[in-house]
Parts: sequence; structure tokens; C-alpha cells
Amino acid sequence: MNEKKLVELTGKHTQIIIELGEYAEILHWGKKIEGELERCRSVIHRPVPQGRLDKDVAMTLMPELGRGLFSSPGLEGHRDGLDWAPVFVITDVVQSSAGHLLIKSEDKRAGLKLSTELMLDEYDVIKTRQTLKNIKAGKYYLNRLANTLPLPARTKELMTYYGRWVKEFQTQRQPLLQGGYQQENRRGRTSHEHYPAFVAGTEDFSENHGEVWGFHFAWSGNHRMRADVKVDGRRYMQAEVIYFPGEIALEQGESHTTPWLYASYNASGLNGMSQQFHSHVRNSVISPDYKEKVRPVHLNTWEGIYFDHDPEYIMSMASQAAELGVERFIIDDGWFKGRDDDYAALGDWFLDERKYPNGLEPVIEHVNNLGMEFGLWFEPEMINKDSDMYREHPEWLLAVDGYNQPEGRHQYVVDLMNDDAFNFLYERLDYFLGKYNIGYIKWDMNREIVQPGHEGRASGVKQTERFYDLVDLLRTKYPQVSIESCASGGGRVDFEVLKRTDRFWPSDNNDALERQTIQRGMSYFFPPEVMGSHIGSSECHCTRRKHSIEFRGLMAMFGHMGIELDPVKEDETEKQNFAHYVELHKSIRSLLHSGVNWRLTTDDPAHQAQAVVAKDQSEAVVLIAQLAMPTNMTSGNLRIPGLDEKAQYRVSVLDKPAFFERIANTQPPWMEADNVLSGSWCGEIGLSIPVLDPETALLLKLERVD
Ligand code: DGJ
Repeated sequence: MNEKKLVELTGKHTQIIIELGEYAEILHWGKKIEGELERCRSVIHRPVPQGRLDKDVAMTLMPELGRGLFSSPGLEGHRDGLDWAPVFVITDVVQSSAGHLLIKSEDKRAGLKLSTELMLDEYDVIKTRQTLKNIKAGKYYLNRLANTLPLPARTKELMTYYGRWVKEFQTQRQPLLQGGYQQENRRGRTSHEHYPAFVAGTEDFSENHGEVWGFHFAWSGNHRMRADVKVDGRRYMQAEVIYFPGEIALEQGESHTTPWLYASYNASGLNGMSQQFHSHVRNSVISPDYKEKVRPVHLNTWEGIYFDHDPEYIMSMASQAAELGVERFIIDDGWFKGRDDDYAALGDWFLDERKYPNGLEPVIEHVNNLGMEFGLWFEPEMINKDSDMYREHPEWLLAVDGYNQPEGRHQYVVDLMNDDAFNFLYERLDYFLGKYNIGYIKWDMNREIVQPGHEGRASGVKQTERFYDLVDLLRTKYPQVSIESCASGGGRVDFEVLKRTDRFWPSDNNDALERQTIQRGMSYFFPPEVMGSHIGSSECHCTRRKHSIEFRGLMAMFGHMGIELDPVKEDETEKQNFAHYVELHKSIRSLLHSGVNWRLTTDDPAHQAQAVVAKDQSEAVVLIAQLAMPTNMTSGNLRIPGLDEKAQYRVSVLDKPAFFERIANTQPPWMEADNVLSGSWCGEIGLSIPVLDPETALLLKLERVD
């Protein structure tokens, strides 16, 4: 292709202009612009300063050292030491629909073909991925294959993620300087530590201001993400899978495709970006079978009974749960053969007949007769050395012979490339799903992967792909079964796993205070309905912090709600309270799980607030949480964006803390009166924030009055 031509991808508010010649370069990715692109494009062609290569070198979708682009290349590999510096030339471009572009290129000398896909949807979310094909004799060893997107020179700051077990999705800000930012995850699952996402933006970007470009790499294994500044000021980002040495080796005719990199631009800050990602997730990631289904309120047995299973007692828990309004009852870890603690039995996916002498049927029937769905916990990819599985098949361990890898939670990983092991796991899950009326699986994964070795060779990528295959096979056979992705809490949370599951367990930490930050961090890319959010016991099992039921109830409200305790042991008052919050959740659930999410900005950092506004702007719910002691005696106004500016809304209080009236001489008068306010008043001036104690919250509703 000698003539350079322009191609345009257009979303609702976003436009991408790509110049295609020998290679593809994004000239613009931002707000939609009007005008004659063809005539204007030369005005952004760059000067060529002295002291460097004599020609301008474009920042392409596949940066190549061979063209003289001294950035991190998009591809690194070789054929027994040769063909290591390919330079691709575009051979064909197919724009199959307004939003989908396929760019085919080739390096004949190196014997490689490359396909770059780019899609921009109506919610302004881009998906891109690369496929490399070896078209020449001799194995091509791929060391790296990255997705690259340019960032404009006005991106000055990043919001990145860090975290750990029981403290996931923490965000931090940093300037984007020369030297850039890089994160590497080598833990074998998506990880708590390096959630595969970040946001780049203009200086001081915030929830409602600044231009932002958000990125999410949809892969549940090792990855590397970077944002970098070149010496000439140009910026770019990259996302790739980390390949272990030798693991991607392409025979002639074979190809390898990267995971999808998702990206979205918004001109008015993080809320807009999140709303775009949420719409994309709701319409293109979550399975269409599940999208319209009401998400039932859970009771999960884990923190109630741990490994101590007695079917009679579990049935009494179920009876209590039903009275609280619970709709799905889940038996967590501890139900299978020999599983009395976390030292043994992973792999032995047979019912423990000591604990369940009459089988699971009586429990499931009891649960179903109470009108609830039944769910069961599995951790299919894991194996304890103290298990029949290991005793019979030590070769099923994912390991490298001759090395003793460290244990994690006393367990190891099953080699899913071993067909016998894979088939055994499929057969066991198939058995349970076929025999019992199971509507839900909690799919856990509780350790990091140290040496993913299959027959001596590195197999990190394959292990992740085989995990997807296992879920997909079961999903195809049992499409009605809903699956939760859990990995010691939020260790496997990403768009690729969400394509085959319906819900995440964001954290093992049910501390209502900590959950505020965890779920807020997760909300930048995920809508509330996929966040499992449970009311835990009054003293949190992870932090030992104590919280009132009002605070716990409201903090579990803005997700997919559940209860995580033993209801039999709770007193009557507490049970009435659980029932109240379950009922409250049900009354606003359809709005919470379909509306537009706003993280609200508050005048005092002690407060954290969020709103969900109905898509037709007819109603909204608002949660104000006071996390710490406020700085001042009063805390300013809470502004609620996203309402119809011209419409009138009646404001009412749905829930408040027990001591609310007693902690101020008077609370703001609007709380008692019948207040009707315009949408623009709510957005611009807001409502005065009442006096609240630390670790308490308030729930408001706004309804349009015609
Ligand atoms: C870790 C999960 O995050 C918990 O919720 C629970 O299912 C345990 N595993 C069970 O072993």
C-alpha cells in the first residue's frame, strides 16, 4: 500500500483517525471533530529535529526497532537467532463495519504475517489485539507480542492500581514522566497486586474533569503494562502477556493471538470513562443469557461455619436464610472428601460421606423447597499433596521436575495441559452439575503459580487458556449455571474471565469500611452488579473491626448483595435488621444493576459518596458514607450529577444510622420536609450534608415528579 489513506472509527463521542501507508499510525484518538480530515492531516505531521534519524519515525500500532523507533517494540522473537528484527508492511485493510478495522501486514523476508484488529463500539470503548502467524519453515520463538496505543503529549498523570489479599483495588496517582511507568504481574493469575488496568489523563484529571484514557488488559495470567514518554515528548502505552522462555514457539502455519486490550477516552473525567466501560461490560462482556436475570441475594456459609459441615445444621441455616429474604444459598469449602481444614483434599471432588451420609439431595431439596437456589464451592485447578488425587497422580502437578516449589495455602496447582487431569476435573464438575440441582458455582483459586511447567516446558499461557477452556466447556453444557470468579477474594478479576462468569468476589475482606475503598477502586472498570458484596458479622473476621448493622447493611447495598455469616447464631433484632437490608436492596436492585454510576466528589475527604441514576433519569439512589471524623464541624453540600437538569425530584431518606437524631442539635431541615428540587439544583448546589458519626452512612432516594 503506497498511497497513505485515512481511516476513521467513530463512537458516540470519540473518534480515532488512523493513517495507513506501509504501517498504521493513530493520528487522533479523542473527541469527535468536524472537518475535512484529508485536507487537514498534513498540519499534524511532525518536524524532524537534528541529532537523530533523518526521517520522522511514526509511533505505530506495532512499534518496530527495524524502522528506527527506539521504544519498547511490539514484537520480539526469532527463528533460531534469525528473523529477529521484522519490519511489517501493510498488505490489506478491511473495514467490515463502521467500528471494526482489520489491518493485515507482512514481512516476507522474516516469514511473518501480522493482523491488527481495532474495534470501537457505540459506548466509546476500543478493543484491540494482534495475531502473529509464522509463514516460513522453522519454528518462530515469540518472546513478546504487545498491544500498543499512543497517548497524546498532553497526558501528564496516571492513576494506577496496587493491592494485596484483603486490600484489593487501591488506586494511586503519579506523574507520567520520562522513564515512564511499568507494572509486571508474574503471579500466574490476574492478581491482587497488579490489577491489569490504569488511567492516563491530562493534568489534575478527576472524577468530573480532565481528559482521560483508561486501559484494561483482559487476561487472567501474567502481564506487563507500561506507559512511557519518549525523548521527543510522544507518549504511548503497551499491554502484553509475559511469556516464559520458549513457551510460544510457532511452527510454520501456526499463529498466536494476544488477549484483547480495552481502552476508552472521555473528555470529562473518570466518571464518564467508567460509565463507558460499564455500558460496554453490560452489553458486550457479561453473557447475554445472564444480563437480564435478577441477581439473587446470597447467603454464603464460609464465615458462618468454615469447614465444620453438618447437613442438619446447614439446613437450619438455610431455613433462617430464607426468612431473611435470601434467594440463593451457597455451601462453601469443606463439603468434599477429607476436607476438614485447608491442609488436605483439594482434588478429591467427591462428596464427603462422613459429613453428608445421606448425600447432598436432602440439603438441596430443603434449600429449593424454601424457594432458594443452591450453589456449591469448587477450587478445580488446585491440589493438596495430602489427597487421593495426588497420591494416585503425582504427575498431575503443574511443576518442573526436580524442583520443590513453595506451597501456598498448603496447596499446589493442577497441570491443566495434562489431558487426563483436565478430563478428570471436567468429569467431576459435570457429575455434580448433572446430578444435583446446582444453580451457581463459586469457582475459587487460592494460590499463585510459581513454576507452570508441563513436561518440563514453561506453560503459563496454556495453563490460563486451559482454565478458560474448562469453564467454557461447563458453561456450554450448563448455560443456566451462574459462576462466580473468586481467587482468595479479588485475585482473578478481569474482562476475559467475566465473559465466562457472572460475578466476582472482590475481596475476602467484609469490613464495611475497607469495602468502600475496594469497591470504589473496582468501580472504575466494573458495574456494581458484578461485585459480590456481603454483610459480614458484626466483628469482621479479617480486621477485627466492629460495625453496626446499619453501616454493614448500607455498605453491602451497592453491589450484588449477600450475607456471609451464620444466621442461626444471630439474635432476633439482628435478624430483623438483615431482613430489612435485604428488602431494601431488593427494592432498589433493578436501578442499582442497570443505572448510571457516579462516584460523587465531596468537600471533605472523610466522606465518600456515590449515586446510581436511572438510565431514563426518572430516579436515583445516593449513598453518603462517612469514613472518618470530618475535618470541620459541618461538611458542605453534596452535589448529585447526572439528573435531568430541567426535571423536578422529590428527595427522601431511605435509611439512616441508629443514633442519627441524637448526634446534632438539629440535622439539616431538608431531611424532614417534603423537598422537591430541580436536577440542576442537585447537580450544581446540592444538599447540605448532615452530621454523621465516623463509619456510618445514609441512603437517599430521588424520584422525578411530573
Ligand atoms: C477463599 C475465598 O475467597 C473465601 O471466600 C472462601 O471461599 C475460601 N477461599 C474457602 O477456602
